[in-house]
Amino acid sequence: MRSLLPFALLCLLLDARFANALTFPVRTRTASQRRSGSGLHSRSNNDTLLPVKNTQNSEYISNITLGGREIPVLLDTGSSDLWVTGTVPNTNDLGKSVSLSYAVGDAAGDVNTATLNFGNYTVENQAYLLVTDTASFSINIAAEGFEGLIGLGPNTGSVIRDKIGDSRGDSVLDRIFQQNASDSNYMTVLLNREGDPKSPPMGQMSISEIVPGYEDVTSMPKLTVEKVHRLTDLDQHWQTYTDVNGVIGPDGNPIKVESIVPSAPDGQLVVVFDSGYTLPQVPRDMSDAIYGRVQGAEYDTTAGVWLIPCDQMLNISFKFGGHDYPVHPLDTSSSEFDMVFPSTGEVACVGAFQPISSSAFSLLGEYDIILGMSFIRNVYALFDYGNFVEDTDHDLGEPFIQLLSTTNLTEAHETFVQVRMSGVDNTGAKSQWLLPVSQEVHSPETEAEKKEQYEEYVLSRWPEIFVGCLAFVIIVMAIIIWRCCFVRRRRRAAQQDSSLLPTAAGRPQSSYKQLEDPSTATLVDMQRIPPRSPSHDGYLSGTTVH
Ligand SMILES: *[C@@H]1O[C@H](CO)[C@@H](O)[C@H](O)[C@H]1NC(C)=O
Ligand SMILES: *[C@@H]1O[C@H](CO)[C@@H](O)[C@H](O)[C@H]1NC(C)=O
Ligand SMILES: *[C@@H]1O[C@H](CO)[C@@H](O)[C@H](O)[C@H]1NC(C)=O
Ligand SMILES: *[C@@H]1O[C@H](CO)[C@@H](O)[C@H](O)[C@H]1NC(C)=O
Ligand SMILES: *[C@@H]1O[C@H](CO)[C@@H](O)[C@H](O)[C@H]1NC(C)=O
Ligand SMILES: *[C@@H]1O[C@H](CO)[C@@H](O)[C@H](O)[C@H]1NC(C)=O
Repeated sequence: MRSLLPFALLCLLLDARFANALTFPVRTRTASQRRSGSGLHSRSNNDTLLPVKNTQNSEYISNITLGGREIPVLLDTGSSDLWVTGTVPNTNDLGKSVSLSYAVGDAAGDVNTATLNFGNYTVENQAYLLVTDTASFSINIAAEGFEGLIGLGPNTGSVIRDKIGDSRGDSVLDRIFQQNASDSNYMTVLLNREGDPKSPPMGQMSISEIVPGYEDVTSMPKLTVEKVHRLTDLDQHWQTYTDVNGVIGPDGNPIKVESIVPSAPDGQLVVVFDSGYTLPQVPRDMSDAIYGRVQGAEYDTTAGVWLIPCDQMLNISFKFGGHDYPVHPLDTSSSEFDMVFPSTGEVACVGAFQPISSSAFSLLGEYDIILGMSFIRNVYALFDYGNFVEDTDHDLGEPFIQLLSTTNLTEAHETFVQVRMSGVDNTGAKSQWLLPVSQEVHSPETEAEKKEQYEEYVLSRWPEIFVGCLAFVIIVMAIIIWRCCFVRRRRRAAQQDSSLLPTAAGRPQSSYKQLEDPSTATLVDMQRIPPRSPSHDGYLSGTTVH
């Protein structure tokens, strides 16, 4: 009985944390909402193949036309809204202000509508955010080559749509698919690699059409989009499971990291494909496993990235649907950032698979990894929206993703030697050998990270924790009631027949223990909640998503 008080306090503490932490997801870069819309009328019959411009392997940009003005916009599969800066001719201000948060800053302004052209498609009255205030942007986006962003994520993620509440606010692709121009509601992306002489000069994006030469993508396995329904369908992204042991490290062995997603099957991780992220975000242990055994590797705590010698060749790969997707060694470490080793001042390359940073970490436990551009450059990716599209009766199957590997490791090896080793193949040299596992260097975990991991653990499991607390309270009540009754009965029994005393005195003792034990065990479990790699057993185990 004495253990009740601390346990009750823990329940309260968990509740308070839950209430506070709930506000966090809203400020992440892909806040999202959902609602259903109504029909629209505009037509076009052509499929679309668009060139995609690459800015230093860090931004992928296509042109749209809005109100007659041609505008370069960043392609972002991780969000679902359209925003642009500057002046748009023939625009209609709806007088509703919206602020969207992105990694670069807040895009704030009024929702407008204008005629949009995207490839050969025309959409009348497309809602978008006309950004007038770019004060919070951390970079000069025009200098980077874009003046807006187009979200290519599921329609349910559109904040504008939620704000104006009718189908004008549906995402651009949703509106295009609603035109029923084609039987297939899909989009494909092919990103090129700067600094790779074998990579095509331009990337491509297509709507309801396969980029010529990449038709094989349609025979790749259809990766089911893992549906997020923690709190309604907020925060739905293009996400799927890796295979079991689906991330292979530079030593050829799988990197074993446990998923933070409660519903993830054992050994599998949830990845989000997000072309808005330059550097893929992976669990810290995974980043350490990739770079922590490289000779001379140093972790830069300010930038939150690993630094390795630029001539270190690292092979890693991902597995989806039984297929291998190798990452080009030029993508595993990036020479695009002007970094030097803090200790020597010598030029360093950035470990592109970065420990997941605070703004990217999933507080609701919805995903483990964000595969950004450094991964997406290695595949031709097809995103089928299926029933993500509303107000159409075409192609309403389950949404899926198909990936065709575009990286040939033999060629990649040659290219790496040419680009990073001045043509001399030194990949077998002793200086390139990985340190033994026992000497792997681990990067330091920040305080903020520990806190987030704890919050994530609680947030993603609150239904189970709530049930656990409730069950505990019920058990305790049962004990109290049982004890009261029993004691009274025992007294009565003692009064009635003293010969029953020995057995009666023995039983309560053991019964009491049996009743108390589970609750004591529960308490121990709760206090043991690990801040990281939570276990999936016990009554805290995952539910919901299948
Ligand atoms: C495709 O677009 C062109 C130019 O916009 C137009 O002339 C042509 O009729 C369209 N094709 C179809 C099948 O609608
Ligand atoms: C638009 O359609 C025309 C005619 O079908 C085609 O030649 C052109 O390449 C298309 N443009 C785009 C961007 O797909
Ligand atoms: C966008 O349009 C501009 C000029 O209209 C052109 O210079 C640029 O190459 C286009 N960008 C892409 C990615 O098509
Ligand atoms: C597309 O199909 C839906 C469902 O049949 C229909 O309501 C809508 O009017 C169609 N849209 C166009 C532009 O044909
Ligand atoms: C990779 O490239 C090499 C050399 O160009 C070629 O011989 C080999 O067949 C390619 N492998 C695959 C799987 O395409
Ligand atoms: C990476 O893989 C390629 C192709 O399998 C191989 O030639 C190369 O030696 C590997 N490099 C390392 C460092 O394992």
